[in-house]
Amino acid sequence: MLEIKNLTKSYGDILALDRFSLDLKKGEVLGLLGPNGAGKTTLISILAGTLRDFTGSVSFLGRDLFADRSLKNRMGIVPQDMAFYEELNAMDNLLFWGGLYDVPRAELKSRATEILEMVELSGRIKEPVKNFSGGMKRRLNTAIGLLHRPDLLLLDEPTVGIDVQAKVSILDLIRKVGAAGTAVIFTTHQLAEVENTCSRIAIMDHGRILAQGTLEELIRLVGEKDIVEITGDFAAAPFSEALQDLAGNGIELLSVADGLAALAVSDTEQIPKVMDRLFRRKLAVTDLKIKSPSLETVFLKLTGRSLRD
Ligand SMILES: Nc1ncnc2c1ncn2[C@@H]1O[C@H](COP(=O)(O)OP(=O)(O)O)[C@@H](O)[C@H]1O
Ligand SMILES: [Mg+2]
Repeated sequence: MLEIKNLTKSYGDILALDRFSLDLKKGEVLGLLGPNGAGKTTLISILAGTLRDFTGSVSFLGRDLFADRSLKNRMGIVPQDMAFYEELNAMDNLLFWGGLYDVPRAELKSRATEILEMVELSGRIKEPVKNFSGGMKRRLNTAIGLLHRPDLLLLDEPTVGIDVQAKVSILDLIRKVGAAGTAVIFTTHQLAEVENTCSRIAIMDHGRILAQGTLEELIRLVGEKDIVEITGDFAAAPFSEALQDLAGNGIELLSVADGLAALAVSDTEQIPKVMDRLFRRKLAVTDLKIKSPSLETVFLKLTGRSLRD
């Protein structure tokens, strides 16, 4: 239902999207996982029609998204910053925004009631939105995106800046929307959020998709290897040198920075060998963590950097 081909967007010298391509089928829930600066918001803004001067094409429901303005009505957007009338209540906000999309007047109220039920705000429809918590506002924002019954819902980092419980409820809502047959793309930089929420995960960095698939497919990419994260008081160069001749023999150096390195090892019996080399070179290790293959190790292997920030 959505085919994105070679989207490229620069801001001056910064290449924010680099021939970004992605296909989405009807009813799929895609988690787009990438660290800050990966290009997630740029992508969503282009799809939402709020960003210009890019190259590439997007076909949506079989038609050119940028040529056919009527397609905008088939897409729901939940941007990172929320836009409401704080003095109005949830129902009036929905009625206002629904009027902007072409929701039939006669249906607007009943749809708004139904959607407020779905996002679990039915009990609070009379209060001005300014009384709402961050999580409630995010749900209301999602309700606005869903009011015109889009075929595709786009959410840009819907869980940023809200508490844990509110995150869980937004992720539940995303699953519910997907189960009802609406395709969803949501962006996040939190690994845990894509693990149980989507039918497909795409990992992006530097404006491109590095890998995509189900969680199991992505984990298979790392093979059976464990990842060893080593922290200590060492510089990158001597660290790499110390392990140079081990590379390839069941040990793969994934990333080395001053004080922090990551290796993939075929089995944990390789670790004493590594420690021995480091010890001989007097490279001080303060901590060593072994991680079994997971989405986090996939990401580390693909990008050479950790998603934590
Ligand atoms: N308006 C802008 N002007 C200049 N650079 C920008 C602008 N918006 C984003 N960028 C840069 O483009 C890259 C991608 O940004 P963005 O799409 O916001 O990533 P994400 O949403 O994944 O954090 C980053 O390097 C960012 O600094
Ligand atoms: Mg962003």
